[in-house]
Amino acid sequence: MGLFSFTQELAMDLGTANSVILNNTGKILWDEPSIVALDRKTDKMIALGAKAKLMDGKTTENIKTVRPLKDGVIADFNAAEQMIRGMIKVVNKNRGGLFAPSLRVVICIPSGSTEVEIRAVRDSAEHAGGRDVYMIFEPMAAALGIGLDVDAPDGNMIVDIGGGTTEIAVISLGGIVTNKSIKVAGDDFTSEIKDYMGRQHNMRVGDRTAEDIKIQVGSVVTELDDAPEDYIVHGPNKMTALPMDIPISYQEIAHCLEKSVAKIDQAILSALEDTPPELYRDIVRNGIYLTGGGALLRGLSRRLTDKIGIKFHVADDPLHMVAKGTAVALKNIGKFSFLMR
Ligand SMILES: Nc1ncnc2c1ncn2[C@@H]1O[C@H](COP(=O)(O)OP(=O)(O)O)[C@@H](O)[C@H]1O
Ligand SMILES: [Mg+2]
Repeated sequence: MGLFSFTQELAMDLGTANSVILNNTGKILWDEPSIVALDRKTDKMIALGAKAKLMDGKTTENIKTVRPLKDGVIADFNAAEQMIRGMIKVVNKNRGGLFAPSLRVVICIPSGSTEVEIRAVRDSAEHAGGRDVYMIFEPMAAALGIGLDVDAPDGNMIVDIGGGTTEIAVISLGGIVTNKSIKVAGDDFTSEIKDYMGRQHNMRVGDRTAEDIKIQVGSVVTELDDAPEDYIVHGPNKMTALPMDIPISYQEIAHCLEKSVAKIDQAILSALEDTPPELYRDIVRNGIYLTGGGALLRGLSRRLTDKIGIKFHVADDPLHMVAKGTAVALKNIGKFSFLMR
Protein backbone atom coordinates (compact mmCIF):
# COMPACT_ATOMS: atom_id res chain seq x y z
CA MET A 1 0.00 0.00 0.00
CA GLY A 2 1.17 3.55 0.33
CA LEU A 3 0.11 6.84 -1.05
CA PHE A 4 2.41 6.84 -4.00
CA SER A 5 1.57 3.55 -5.64
CA PHE A 6 -1.16 4.77 -7.91
CA THR A 7 -0.96 1.92 -10.31
CA GLN A 8 -1.69 -1.49 -8.97
CA GLU A 9 -0.32 -4.30 -11.11
CA LEU A 10 -1.78 -7.78 -11.01
CA ALA A 11 -1.04 -11.07 -12.76
CA MET A 12 -3.99 -13.41 -12.87
CA ASP A 13 -4.19 -17.10 -13.78
CA LEU A 14 -7.76 -18.10 -14.49
CA GLY A 15 -7.59 -21.87 -14.13
CA THR A 16 -10.43 -24.34 -14.43
CA ALA A 17 -9.69 -25.59 -10.92
CA ASN A 18 -7.86 -22.74 -9.21
CA SER A 19 -7.36 -19.04 -9.80
CA VAL A 20 -4.18 -17.37 -8.62
CA ILE A 21 -3.34 -13.68 -8.45
CA LEU A 22 0.16 -12.30 -7.88
CA ASN A 23 1.35 -8.72 -7.68
CA ASN A 24 4.33 -7.41 -9.63
CA THR A 25 6.78 -8.54 -6.96
CA GLY A 26 5.51 -12.11 -7.30
CA LYS A 27 3.64 -12.14 -3.99
CA ILE A 28 0.55 -14.39 -3.95
CA LEU A 29 -2.52 -12.28 -3.19
CA TRP A 30 -5.19 -14.82 -4.05
CA ASP A 31 -5.10 -18.59 -4.46
CA GLU A 32 -8.50 -20.22 -4.33
CA PRO A 33 -10.73 -22.59 -6.29
CA SER A 34 -12.37 -21.14 -9.42
CA ILE A 35 -15.90 -21.40 -8.16
CA VAL A 36 -18.70 -19.02 -7.24
CA ALA A 37 -21.96 -19.48 -5.36
CA LEU A 38 -24.85 -17.58 -6.92
CA ASP A 39 -28.40 -16.78 -5.92
CA ARG A 40 -30.52 -18.85 -8.30
CA LYS A 41 -33.12 -16.12 -8.75
CA THR A 42 -31.02 -12.99 -9.10
CA ASP A 43 -27.72 -14.57 -10.20
CA LYS A 44 -25.99 -12.37 -7.63
CA MET A 45 -22.76 -13.70 -6.15
CA ILE A 46 -23.07 -14.98 -2.60
CA ALA A 47 -19.64 -16.50 -2.13
CA LEU A 48 -16.38 -16.90 -4.00
CA GLY A 49 -13.42 -19.26 -4.01
CA ALA A 50 -12.82 -21.51 -1.01
CA LYS A 51 -16.03 -20.32 0.65
CA ALA A 52 -18.05 -21.21 -2.42
CA LYS A 53 -16.31 -24.57 -2.70
CA LEU A 54 -17.48 -25.46 0.81
CA MET A 55 -21.04 -25.02 -0.45
CA ASP A 56 -20.44 -27.25 -3.46
CA GLY A 57 -22.59 -30.37 -3.24
CA LYS A 58 -24.59 -28.86 -0.39
CA THR A 59 -26.61 -26.27 -2.23
CA THR A 60 -30.28 -25.50 -1.74
CA GLU A 61 -33.09 -24.40 -4.01
CA ASN A 62 -31.91 -20.80 -3.53
CA ILE A 63 -28.20 -21.21 -4.05
CA LYS A 64 -26.18 -22.83 -6.82
CA THR A 65 -22.46 -23.21 -7.24
CA VAL A 66 -20.84 -22.66 -10.61
CA ARG A 67 -17.38 -23.29 -11.98
CA PRO A 68 -17.13 -20.58 -14.62
CA LEU A 69 -14.36 -22.34 -16.52
CA LYS A 70 -14.73 -25.84 -17.79
CA ASP A 71 -12.60 -27.96 -20.10
CA GLY A 72 -10.24 -25.07 -20.61
CA VAL A 73 -12.83 -22.59 -21.84
CA ILE A 74 -15.21 -20.13 -20.24
CA ALA A 75 -18.38 -22.10 -19.76
CA ASP A 76 -20.40 -19.42 -17.98
CA PHE A 77 -19.73 -15.80 -18.90
CA ASN A 78 -21.80 -14.24 -16.14
CA ALA A 79 -20.18 -16.36 -13.44
CA ALA A 80 -16.72 -15.70 -14.88
CA GLU A 81 -17.29 -11.98 -14.78
CA GLN A 82 -18.52 -12.09 -11.20
CA MET A 83 -15.54 -14.19 -10.21
CA ILE A 84 -13.01 -11.87 -11.85
CA ARG A 85 -14.63 -8.80 -10.34
CA GLY A 86 -14.93 -10.46 -6.94
CA MET A 87 -11.28 -11.50 -6.84
CA ILE A 88 -10.05 -8.04 -7.86
CA LYS A 89 -12.29 -6.48 -5.23
CA VAL A 90 -10.96 -8.71 -2.45
CA VAL A 91 -7.35 -8.21 -3.49
CA ASN A 92 -7.86 -4.43 -3.55
CA LYS A 93 -9.58 -4.39 -0.19
CA ASN A 94 -6.84 -6.42 1.46
CA ARG A 95 -4.36 -3.95 0.09
CA GLY A 96 -6.04 -1.30 2.21
CA GLY A 97 -4.96 1.64 0.04
CA LEU A 98 -6.64 4.99 0.51
CA PHE A 99 -7.06 5.65 -3.17
CA ALA A 100 -8.58 3.45 -5.79
CA PRO A 101 -5.46 2.80 -7.83
CA SER A 102 -5.44 2.52 -11.55
CA LEU A 103 -5.20 -1.11 -12.34
CA ARG A 104 -2.96 -2.85 -14.83
CA VAL A 105 -3.61 -6.55 -15.17
CA VAL A 106 -2.21 -9.40 -17.21
CA ILE A 107 -4.63 -12.32 -17.41
CA CYS A 108 -3.64 -15.78 -18.47
CA ILE A 109 -6.30 -17.51 -20.53
CA PRO A 110 -6.64 -21.04 -21.90
CA SER A 111 -4.95 -21.31 -25.29
CA GLY A 112 -8.16 -22.64 -26.81
CA SER A 113 -10.05 -19.43 -26.01
CA THR A 114 -12.08 -17.93 -28.83
CA GLU A 115 -12.25 -14.22 -29.75
CA VAL A 116 -15.57 -14.00 -27.95
CA GLU A 117 -14.15 -15.50 -24.78
CA ILE A 118 -11.11 -13.26 -24.86
CA ARG A 119 -13.42 -10.27 -25.28
CA ALA A 120 -15.51 -11.46 -22.32
CA VAL A 121 -12.52 -11.80 -20.02
CA ARG A 122 -11.27 -8.37 -21.05
CA ASP A 123 -14.69 -6.80 -20.44
CA SER A 124 -14.92 -8.41 -17.01
CA ALA A 125 -11.50 -7.11 -16.03
CA GLU A 126 -12.38 -3.64 -17.30
CA HIS A 127 -15.65 -3.64 -15.40
CA ALA A 128 -13.67 -4.54 -12.30
CA GLY A 129 -11.56 -1.41 -12.77
CA GLY A 130 -8.80 -2.65 -15.06
CA ARG A 131 -7.54 0.28 -17.14
CA ASP A 132 -4.76 -1.53 -18.82
CA VAL A 133 -5.65 -5.14 -19.57
CA TYR A 134 -3.38 -7.62 -21.32
CA MET A 135 -3.86 -11.30 -22.08
CA ILE A 136 -1.40 -14.10 -22.38
CA PHE A 137 -2.00 -17.67 -23.49
CA GLU A 138 -1.41 -20.30 -20.85
CA PRO A 139 1.50 -22.27 -22.37
CA MET A 140 3.45 -19.04 -22.83
CA ALA A 141 2.85 -18.10 -19.22
CA ALA A 142 3.89 -21.56 -18.08
CA ALA A 143 7.10 -21.32 -20.10
CA LEU A 144 7.92 -17.91 -18.62
CA GLY A 145 7.24 -19.30 -15.15
CA ILE A 146 9.62 -22.17 -15.74
CA GLY A 147 12.21 -19.60 -16.75
CA LEU A 148 12.58 -20.54 -20.40
CA ASP A 149 13.85 -18.02 -22.91
CA VAL A 150 10.64 -18.02 -24.89
CA ASP A 151 11.86 -15.69 -27.65
CA ALA A 152 14.84 -17.88 -28.51
CA PRO A 153 14.93 -20.05 -31.66
CA ASP A 154 14.72 -23.10 -29.44
CA GLY A 155 11.84 -25.55 -29.19
CA ASN A 156 10.36 -26.46 -25.83
CA MET A 157 7.44 -28.70 -24.98
CA ILE A 158 5.26 -27.99 -21.97
CA VAL A 159 2.63 -30.34 -20.62
CA ASP A 160 0.18 -28.65 -18.25
CA ILE A 161 -2.10 -31.07 -16.42
CA GLY A 162 -4.78 -28.90 -14.84
CA GLY A 163 -8.26 -29.60 -13.52
CA GLY A 164 -10.23 -29.98 -16.73
CA THR A 165 -7.69 -30.32 -19.50
CA THR A 166 -4.16 -31.39 -20.25
CA GLU A 167 -2.52 -28.92 -22.60
CA ILE A 168 0.50 -29.96 -24.59
CA ALA A 169 2.24 -27.08 -26.32
CA VAL A 170 5.43 -26.55 -28.27
CA ILE A 171 6.77 -23.03 -28.18
CA SER A 172 9.58 -21.36 -30.05
CA LEU A 173 10.49 -17.82 -31.14
CA GLY A 174 7.90 -16.22 -28.87
CA GLY A 175 5.01 -18.17 -30.31
CA ILE A 176 2.96 -21.30 -29.79
CA VAL A 177 3.92 -23.67 -32.60
CA THR A 178 1.57 -26.50 -31.80
CA ASN A 179 -0.97 -26.95 -29.11
CA LYS A 180 -2.96 -30.02 -28.27
CA SER A 181 -5.60 -30.19 -25.62
CA ILE A 182 -7.30 -33.28 -24.24
CA LYS A 183 -10.11 -33.40 -21.75
CA VAL A 184 -8.33 -35.76 -19.42
CA ALA A 185 -6.83 -34.15 -16.31
CA GLY A 186 -7.09 -33.80 -12.54
CA ASP A 187 -10.88 -33.87 -12.34
CA ASP A 188 -10.95 -37.16 -14.25
CA PHE A 189 -8.41 -38.70 -11.88
CA THR A 190 -10.64 -37.64 -9.01
CA SER A 191 -13.74 -39.15 -10.55
CA GLU A 192 -11.88 -42.38 -11.41
CA ILE A 193 -10.98 -42.68 -7.73
CA LYS A 194 -14.55 -41.98 -6.71
CA ASP A 195 -15.89 -44.74 -8.98
CA TYR A 196 -13.15 -47.10 -7.87
CA MET A 197 -14.02 -46.67 -4.18
CA GLY A 198 -17.62 -47.62 -4.95
CA ARG A 199 -16.79 -50.51 -7.25
CA GLN A 200 -13.88 -52.05 -5.36
CA HIS A 201 -14.60 -51.17 -1.73
CA ASN A 202 -18.37 -50.55 -1.72
CA MET A 203 -17.72 -47.14 -0.25
CA ARG A 204 -19.57 -44.04 -1.30
CA VAL A 205 -17.23 -41.03 -1.39
CA GLY A 206 -17.73 -37.46 -2.56
CA ASP A 207 -15.46 -35.41 -4.80
CA ARG A 208 -13.61 -33.85 -1.91
CA THR A 209 -12.73 -37.21 -0.33
CA ALA A 210 -11.69 -38.61 -3.70
CA GLU A 211 -9.42 -35.60 -4.24
CA ASP A 212 -7.90 -36.11 -0.77
CA ILE A 213 -7.11 -39.72 -1.67
CA LYS A 214 -5.48 -38.52 -4.88
CA ILE A 215 -3.32 -36.01 -3.04
CA GLN A 216 -2.38 -38.40 -0.21
CA VAL A 217 -1.62 -41.54 -2.21
CA GLY A 218 -1.99 -40.54 -5.87
CA SER A 219 0.57 -42.33 -8.03
CA VAL A 220 1.04 -43.31 -11.66
CA VAL A 221 3.56 -46.07 -11.00
CA THR A 222 3.24 -49.17 -8.83
CA GLU A 223 6.75 -48.93 -7.40
CA LEU A 224 7.90 -45.83 -5.59
CA ASP A 225 11.12 -45.25 -3.68
CA ASP A 226 9.53 -42.79 -1.27
CA ALA A 227 6.19 -44.55 -0.96
CA PRO A 228 3.46 -42.82 1.05
CA GLU A 229 1.75 -44.77 3.82
CA ASP A 230 -1.71 -46.16 3.15
CA TYR A 231 -4.39 -43.56 3.56
CA ILE A 232 -7.35 -44.50 5.75
CA VAL A 233 -10.59 -43.41 4.13
CA HIS A 234 -13.74 -43.02 6.21
CA GLY A 235 -17.12 -43.26 4.55
CA PRO A 236 -20.44 -45.07 4.31
CA ASN A 237 -20.96 -48.54 2.89
CA LYS A 238 -22.74 -48.19 -0.42
CA MET A 239 -25.32 -50.87 0.49
CA THR A 240 -25.80 -50.66 4.24
CA ALA A 241 -24.84 -46.99 4.82
CA LEU A 242 -22.85 -48.16 7.84
CA PRO A 243 -19.53 -46.35 8.42
CA MET A 244 -16.34 -48.03 7.17
CA ASP A 245 -12.58 -47.34 7.39
CA ILE A 246 -10.59 -48.54 4.43
CA PRO A 247 -6.83 -48.22 3.95
CA ILE A 248 -5.90 -47.29 0.41
CA SER A 249 -2.42 -47.83 -1.02
CA TYR A 250 -0.69 -45.87 -3.74
CA GLN A 251 -0.43 -49.07 -5.79
CA GLU A 252 -4.21 -49.35 -5.91
CA ILE A 253 -4.47 -45.77 -7.07
CA ALA A 254 -1.82 -46.34 -9.73
CA HIS A 255 -3.94 -49.19 -11.13
CA CYS A 256 -7.11 -47.15 -10.84
CA LEU A 257 -5.62 -44.19 -12.74
CA GLU A 258 -3.86 -46.29 -15.37
CA LYS A 259 -6.44 -45.85 -18.13
CA SER A 260 -6.67 -42.07 -17.79
CA VAL A 261 -2.93 -41.59 -17.49
CA ALA A 262 -2.36 -43.78 -20.54
CA LYS A 263 -4.45 -41.25 -22.51
CA ILE A 264 -2.03 -38.54 -21.46
CA ASP A 265 0.96 -40.71 -22.51
CA GLN A 266 -0.72 -41.14 -25.90
CA ALA A 267 -1.49 -37.45 -26.31
CA ILE A 268 2.13 -36.53 -25.62
CA LEU A 269 3.33 -39.11 -28.14
CA SER A 270 0.96 -37.81 -30.75
CA ALA A 271 2.02 -34.20 -30.08
CA LEU A 272 5.63 -35.31 -30.58
CA GLU A 273 4.65 -36.95 -33.87
CA ASP A 274 3.21 -33.65 -35.06
CA THR A 275 6.28 -31.65 -34.05
CA PRO A 276 8.54 -30.44 -36.90
CA PRO A 277 11.89 -32.29 -36.83
CA GLU A 278 14.12 -29.34 -35.93
CA LEU A 279 11.98 -28.54 -32.93
CA TYR A 280 11.79 -32.22 -32.05
CA ARG A 281 15.57 -32.27 -31.76
CA ASP A 282 15.50 -29.28 -29.42
CA ILE A 283 12.86 -30.96 -27.28
CA VAL A 284 14.87 -34.17 -26.99
CA ARG A 285 17.86 -32.10 -25.91
CA ASN A 286 15.95 -29.86 -23.47
CA GLY A 287 13.57 -32.44 -22.04
CA ILE A 288 9.84 -31.88 -21.57
CA TYR A 289 8.40 -29.76 -18.77
CA LEU A 290 5.44 -30.89 -16.66
CA THR A 291 3.32 -28.40 -14.79
CA GLY A 292 -0.20 -27.91 -13.39
CA GLY A 293 -1.54 -29.66 -10.30
CA GLY A 294 -1.55 -33.04 -12.08
CA ALA A 295 2.25 -32.90 -12.31
CA LEU A 296 2.26 -33.59 -8.56
CA LEU A 297 1.10 -37.18 -9.08
CA ARG A 298 3.81 -39.43 -7.74
CA GLY A 299 6.04 -41.07 -10.32
CA LEU A 300 4.79 -39.05 -13.27
CA SER A 301 8.12 -37.81 -14.61
CA ARG A 302 9.67 -41.25 -14.20
CA ARG A 303 6.80 -42.98 -15.92
CA LEU A 304 6.90 -40.63 -18.90
CA THR A 305 10.68 -40.62 -19.15
CA ASP A 306 10.64 -44.45 -19.25
CA LYS A 307 7.78 -44.67 -21.73
CA ILE A 308 8.83 -41.97 -24.14
CA GLY A 309 12.60 -41.96 -23.85
CA ILE A 310 12.85 -38.19 -23.41
CA LYS A 311 13.67 -36.68 -20.04
CA PHE A 312 10.65 -35.15 -18.24
CA HIS A 313 11.11 -32.43 -15.62
CA VAL A 314 8.48 -31.45 -13.06
CA ALA A 315 8.38 -27.67 -12.63
CA ASP A 316 8.85 -26.34 -9.09
CA ASP A 317 5.57 -25.40 -7.51
CA PRO A 318 3.42 -26.58 -10.43
CA LEU A 319 0.20 -25.15 -8.98
CA HIS A 320 1.59 -21.60 -9.21
CA MET A 321 3.82 -21.82 -12.26
CA VAL A 322 1.39 -20.27 -14.74
CA ALA A 323 0.61 -17.38 -12.37
CA LYS A 324 4.33 -16.82 -11.80
CA GLY A 325 4.92 -16.70 -15.53
CA THR A 326 2.05 -14.25 -15.91
CA ALA A 327 3.79 -12.06 -13.32
CA VAL A 328 6.99 -12.24 -15.37
CA ALA A 329 4.99 -10.97 -18.35
CA LEU A 330 3.56 -8.18 -16.18
CA LYS A 331 7.04 -7.07 -15.17
CA ASN A 332 8.18 -7.06 -18.78
CA ILE A 333 5.20 -5.47 -20.47
CA GLY A 334 6.29 -4.08 -23.79
CA LYS A 335 9.05 -6.62 -24.18
CA PHE A 336 6.91 -9.55 -25.26
CA SER A 337 5.05 -9.33 -28.55
CA PHE A 338 2.79 -12.24 -27.61
CA LEU A 339 0.95 -10.19 -25.00
CA MET A 340 -2.47 -9.27 -26.38
CA ARG A 341 -4.17 -5.97 -25.68
N1 LIG B 1 -0.69 -33.22 -4.77
C1 LIG B 1 -1.49 -33.41 -5.84
N2 LIG B 1 -1.48 -34.60 -6.50
C2 LIG B 1 -2.27 -34.80 -7.56
N3 LIG B 1 -3.13 -33.89 -8.05
C3 LIG B 1 -3.19 -32.69 -7.43
C4 LIG B 1 -2.37 -32.38 -6.30
N4 LIG B 1 -2.66 -31.12 -5.90
C5 LIG B 1 -3.60 -30.65 -6.74
N5 LIG B 1 -3.92 -31.59 -7.66
C6 LIG B 1 -4.93 -31.49 -8.74
O1 LIG B 1 -4.54 -30.51 -9.66
C7 LIG B 1 -5.71 -30.00 -10.32
C8 LIG B 1 -5.65 -28.49 -10.33
O2 LIG B 1 -4.49 -28.08 -10.96
P1 LIG B 1 -4.34 -26.60 -11.54
O3 LIG B 1 -3.06 -26.55 -12.25
O4 LIG B 1 -4.59 -25.60 -10.45
O5 LIG B 1 -5.57 -26.59 -12.57
P2 LIG B 1 -6.19 -25.40 -13.41
O6 LIG B 1 -5.04 -24.67 -14.03
O7 LIG B 1 -7.07 -26.10 -14.39
O8 LIG B 1 -6.95 -24.54 -12.45
C9 LIG B 1 -6.91 -30.50 -9.53
O9 LIG B 1 -7.53 -31.56 -10.26
C10 LIG B 1 -6.28 -31.01 -8.25
O10 LIG B 1 -7.03 -32.09 -7.69
MG1 LIG C 1 -3.71 -23.90 -15.10
